[in-house]
Amino acid sequence: MSIVGGRPLNGTIAISGAKNAALPLMIASLLTPERLTLKNVPSLADVTLLGRILRNHGVDLTIDGKRGNPAPHLGETFHLTARDIVDTTAPYELVSRMRASFWVLGPLVARCGEARVSMPGGCAIGTRPVDLHLMALKALGAEIDIDGGYVVAKAPRGLKGARVVFPKVSVGATHTLLMAASLATGETVIENAAREPEIGDVAECLIKMGARIEGLGTARLRVQGTDHLEGAVHTVLPDRIETGTYAFAVAAAGGSVELKGARKSLLETAFRTLAKAGVAVTENDTGVRVARNGGALEPITVETQPYPGFPTDLQAQLMALMTKARGTSVIRETIFENRFMHVQELARLGADIQLQGDTATVRGVKTLRGAQVMATDLRASVSLVIAGLMAEGQTTINRVYHLDRGFERLEQKLSSCGASIERLVG
Ligand code: EPZ
Repeated sequence: MSIVGGRPLNGTIAISGAKNAALPLMIASLLTPERLTLKNVPSLADVTLLGRILRNHGVDLTIDGKRGNPAPHLGETFHLTARDIVDTTAPYELVSRMRASFWVLGPLVARCGEARVSMPGGCAIGTRPVDLHLMALKALGAEIDIDGGYVVAKAPRGLKGARVVFPKVSVGATHTLLMAASLATGETVIENAAREPEIGDVAECLIKMGARIEGLGTARLRVQGTDHLEGAVHTVLPDRIETGTYAFAVAAAGGSVELKGARKSLLETAFRTLAKAGVAVTENDTGVRVARNGGALEPITVETQPYPGFPTDLQAQLMALMTKARGTSVIRETIFENRFMHVQELARLGADIQLQGDTATVRGVKTLRGAQVMATDLRASVSLVIAGLMAEGQTTINRVYHLDRGFERLEQKLSSCGASIERLVG
C-alpha cells in the first residue's frame, strides 16, 4: 500500500459494524438449532474465515445479496442456522489463523456435550493464554484435557451453573462463559466480567434468543441458564475501534470528518484523550465529527486498560499520532506484553520512541519522512497508515493483508476524504 502524506482529510467516513462483536455473535449461532440473523456485519477477512469454521461444524450460512440500500454502510445481513452440529472439532488449520475462533469451544460443549478445539493463533501481540476460558468451563462442570495441541472439553450430562470469579479481565473468556452459561442448568454469576460494549452486544442478542442475563454493562453478570435458545434478529453495533482509528487519522492529517454512524458513548476515554491533545470532537444526530485545523498536537500520558479505560486496540494509533506532538508523551501498555511491534517501523519514518518494559516514551518530532515499512499485526498496521498520512513524501506499507482482517474498504474510506492512498498490486 502506498501513501503520500501531507493532505488533510475532509468529508464523511461511514463506520462499519464492529468486528469484535460480529465474530462472537456469529459464534452464538451454535447455541440454537434455529436461525440467527445478523445485520450490519462488516465485510472482513476474519468474518469470512469464521464463516468457513462455522460451516465446518454444520452451520448453514447465507448472506443477503445487494439491496437498494439507502444506507450502504449498514453492512451485510447474515443468516446462520446450526440445525445439526455435525462436527465438534475445530481444526488447527483454521483456528491457528484467528484467535477468536477458539471461542466456539463454550457453545459447542454447552450444546453437544463435547468439543475438540485447536489451541489458537492470531495476532502476534503476546503469549495470549486460554487458561481463563478453561477455568470458566471447568467451573461449569466440563472436563478439560489437552491432547495433541487440542483442547478437549467434555460435559456429557450438560453444564451446570456456578459462580466464577475471573482473576483478570478477559473479553474472550467472558464471551465463552456467557455463551456456555446461557445453555447450562441453573444460575451462573460472573464476577470481574469484561465490560467491553461488544460483550453487551452479544448479551443483548442472547437475551433475544431467550437467555436470561442481568447486569449488562457491569462487572457482575447473572445468567439463568435454559435448555433451549431460539432464533433471533440482531444488528451488530458500530465499530468503536474503527471509529477511534479514523478519529486519530483526522487528528494526524488535519481537516474535519464526519464519522457517520459512530457512537461517542462507546469511546469516551479515547475521545477525551483526543480532546486533551487539542482535537475537537462533537457528537450530532448522525455520528461524530472530528476536526483539527492547524493547531498543535499536545503530548499525552496514557495507559491502556480494560473498558471503559483507554483501549489497547487504539494504542498503536495513538502512538503514531504522538510522534508529531509538541513534547513528550508516555504510553503504557498494560493488556498485552508484546504489543509494540509498530515502534521500530514508526522509527523508520523518523519517530523518536524509547521502549522500556511496558512503557513507550514518545518525543514529538517536527517531521516524519516516508519510507518502506512492514505491517505486523492488525492495529500496528493501521498505525503505519496514520503515520504515513503525516509523513512527507511516500510511505510504502508491506504485508497489508493484516489490514483486511479488521478494516473494511480502508483505502476507499480515506481517499474519499482526500488522502492519497492506494493498494499496490503484486
Ligand atoms: C479481545 O481479545 C479482542 N479480540 C482484542 O482485539 C483486544 O485487544 C482484546 O480483547 C483486549 O481488549 C476480539 O474481540 C476478537 P483478552 P481477547 O482475553 O479476548 C490475558 C483486535 O485487534 N488472558 O481480553 O483475546 C491475555 O493474555 C484484537 O481486534 C489470559 O491470561 O483478549 C491478555 O493479557 C487483538 N488468559 C489479557 O488477558 C486467558 O485465558 C486480556 O485478553 C485469556 C486472556
